[in-house]
Amino acid sequence: MRSMCIGMRYPKPDQLLSLVIVAVETGRMTHHHPIGFLGSVASALFASYAIQRRPLASWGLGLIREACPVAKQVIIERGFAVEENQKEWDSFSEKWQRYEYLDLRGLSNGEGPVIWPSPYGVAERDEAYKSFSLTGWGGSCGHDAPMIALDALLGAGSDWEELLNRAAFHGGDNDSTAAIACCCWGLLYGTKGVPRGNYSKLEYRDRLERSARQLYALSH
Ligand SMILES: *[C@@H]1O[C@H](CO)[C@@H](O)[C@H](O)[C@H]1NC(C)=O
Ligand SMILES: *[C@@H]1O[C@H](CO)[C@@H](O)[C@H](O)[C@H]1NC(C)=O
Repeated sequence: MRSMCIGMRYPKPDQLLSLVIVAVETGRMTHHHPIGFLGSVASALFASYAIQRRPLASWGLGLIREACPVAKQVIIERGFAVEENQKEWDSFSEKWQRYEYLDLRGLSNGEGPVIWPSPYGVAERDEAYKSFSLTGWGGSCGHDAPMIALDALLGAGSDWEELLNRAAFHGGDNDSTAAIACCCWGLLYGTKGVPRGNYSKLEYRDRLERSARQLYALSH
């Protein structure tokens, strides 16, 4: 939930290697298991995809096919805890790919159309988010926080209130999933349709805006 700024710093497709290196190394300072720090890669990557206007249906496949192999190479080349990481490596992509999220949503081809359960209301979403998780607390790990954020982005389109319903108002690790989803949503739609009350008195707003301007300047 704190690595989206890395995608804002390295937003271009040809900056993928820098994005991955920074996301891996900052991620594994606190989350040394691949299922943790690959979540850092996922959130940074999704922010960059939002800036690139890459179709949402291709984000998951891009993560598994394009970014994860780069991350694996980075781990090998950095030479730190290589064996331990290789042993656990597939735990992240298995949750995304094989019979899991991407297949479930019809996104394994990177194109869709998205397959939604019917109905998919509050109760069904809580169950689904739980099923993505390892421990029953949806969105608390590196694989499922960006997954739930993506699910919310796919379902909400440009509707802010619907985004909050899906990414923020659930019984799991809702601040993590909301932070990731709302950051990507903001990169896509700005504050279009967002009630002023949601951001006008934001804590640390000046500091956030100053950092955002500096990131923007660096990324160009
Ligand atoms: C969001 O998660 C917190 C715990 O982190 C919980 O107290 C709160 O009830 C959750 N919100 C909803 C709408 O379930
Ligand atoms: C924030 O946005 C939500 C969703 O549009 C809205 O229901 C809520 O009233 C807003 N909160 C404030 C304080 O403006």
